[in-house]
Amino acid sequence: MEKRTQQALIEAALAAREQAYAPYSRYQVGAALLASDGTIFTGCNIENAAYTPTICAERVAIFKAVSEGYRDFTAIAVATADGGSPCGVCRQVMSEFMLDAQVLIVDGEGTVVVDTTGRDLLPFAFGPENLDR
Ligand code: THU
Repeated sequence: MEKRTQQALIEAALAAREQAYAPYSRYQVGAALLASDGTIFTGCNIENAAYTPTICAERVAIFKAVSEGYRDFTAIAVATADGGSPCGVCRQVMSEFMLDAQVLIVDGEGTVVVDTTGRDLLPFAFGPENLDR
């Protein structure tokens, strides 16, 4: 990924983090997903008083993109205050659409803490090849 594209993606994740609805955990997360045609989809975590309906920023971004016809992704940037890592459920969703995509985990200043891939984030993933289709 070009340096300026990476910077734009990180800035989009930081901006998305500002939209986080996280009154319960107060842990704000922003994600920015880069589709292969250059389109960026963003997401933030959205919590709920019943707790379990809460959805993570990464899945909001991915589901927005897939629901608009995009399935091919190059990278995702995930921003939290402390450079926290994507949860297991988000790793599973990432593995469906973006095993080979770059995953950038950044802190609240946009500094890259982890630079990896969807595949490396979820080794031995359960995938479509496990199903008799
Ligand atoms: N969260 C995310 O948005 N992404 C992750 O991968 C980790 C957790 C959110 C969910 C919840 O709103 C808050 O962070 C604390 O768990």
